[in-house]
Amino acid sequence: MRFSKVDFSITPYVEGVTLPVSKPNPQFLSEIGEEGMRELLDRFYMKLYESPIAHLFPSDREEMKTAAQHSADFFIQICGGPAYFNRNRGAPQMRKRHAPFAITPEARLHWLVLFEEALMPLLEEQRCSETNLQSFWRYLDTFSQWMVNSRS
Ligand code: HEM
Repeated sequence: MRFSKVDFSITPYVEGVTLPVSKPNPQFLSEIGEEGMRELLDRFYMKLYESPIAHLFPSDREEMKTAAQHSADFFIQICGGPAYFNRNRGAPQMRKRHAPFAITPEARLHWLVLFEEALMPLLEEQRCSETNLQSFWRYLDTFSQWMVNSRS
């Protein structure tokens, strides 16, 4: 394994503070491709499925695969690709969509750590540049704070 310069630090959640969010570099999608993004979200959702925050997600494996593909639609779109999410699910309205689930600061940490694990093969296989991965991570770090909607 080679040494990575990507900073996977997580900005602590502070209640009432919504940090500005920048979209990921579109080159991240160009590098990994739509298939790469779909594989990434499959990997991530299979980790969620067996995680301490699994209770938030569908308990059926097939439903989890579908959920992963909806998320992949979103991430392809936010990285400048085709508007699959709008087409298949409607306007993103992410905070509203997450409102039915109690997302605590701790759940956000689990979510981010699992996402970091799912991203690792991209680094190890050198499927994308560290700069573009860094930009994707910063997006996850900042935007995930917006999804926190519960204290406990
Ligand atoms: C960068 C931050 C995040 C993004 C971009 C994001 C994106 C998404 C997307 C696109 C969906 C599918 C919505 C739909 O198809 O209607 C979704 C669903 C969901 N997300 Fe997130 N999410 C984020 C953070 C989080 C966090 C931090 C948690 C919890 C710790 C979380 C929990 C969920 C749950 C429980 C669902 C519903 C699963 C389902 O049945 O489809 N999300 N998210």
